[in-house]
Amino acid sequence: MLEAKNLVYEYKDGSQRLRVLDGVSLSLQAGKSLCIVGPSGSGKSTLLYLLAGLRVPASGSVLFRGRPLEAMSSKERARLRARDFGFVFQQHFLVKHLTVMENIFVSAHKPNRDTLAYARHLVERLGLGGLEHRFPAELSGGQRQRVALARALVNRPAILFADEPTASLDPDSSANLMQLLREVRGETALIMVTHDTRLLDQFDRTVELIDGKLRQVAKRVS
Ligand SMILES: Nc1ncnc2c1ncn2[C@@H]1O[C@H](COP(=O)(O)OP(=O)(O)OP(=O)(O)O)[C@@H](O)[C@H]1O
Ligand SMILES: [Mg+2]
Repeated sequence: MLEAKNLVYEYKDGSQRLRVLDGVSLSLQAGKSLCIVGPSGSGKSTLLYLLAGLRVPASGSVLFRGRPLEAMSSKERARLRARDFGFVFQQHFLVKHLTVMENIFVSAHKPNRDTLAYARHLVERLGLGGLEHRFPAELSGGQRQRVALARALVNRPAILFADEPTASLDPDSSANLMQLLREVRGETALIMVTHDTRLLDQFDRTVELIDGKLRQVAKRVS
């Protein structure tokens, strides 16, 4: 469903160029889960931006259902992202002046009764019941992160891109979040970045990003 071929990405660092991704390839099938690990600064967030069409690679290609994202206009890419992708950023980016429920609902492309019911389900399921009318500033870091996840899932995306979504969560909330991601897996494949090695067993596949390249991490036999 999603395929990345030979992605190269560089940041400008003054007069220098910093090559963060140096020929990264991967693929993800519908309903599957992929975990990306690697040291801080290795380019995991950058890779997610490229895979989700938020940035365009210097070279290489990302194909979603066989269509190269970099060949689309930025408007087409935005439409595809809104319809088929969900994204949980490392810094959640909630809208300050909107409540929890409004933040979740604001990106719904079918703002109807079913979507509202699903938004309510996600709120309950993520342990946010009772907080619907609070503003982001009135939430804990972990609660904000869960609101961002509900917002990313409300459109039932084909792929969820999640950048360290459990970083501010306690072990129980983290397990609950992972359980929810398994429940929706039938319709939503998962690409997730994490530093929490305890979660790796729960993914179909794990890859490690080091020095701009990906390598497979063998599954632990338990
Ligand atoms: N806008 C930018 N301009 C210049 N360099 C950048 C920019 N954004 C990121 N970088 C650099 O690119 C590298 C990769 O950053 P990235 O955020 O992708 O890493 P990461 O693996 O997600 O790290 P972490 O685990 O800390 O979130 C880092 O060395 C970072 O300093
Ligand atoms: Mg990051």
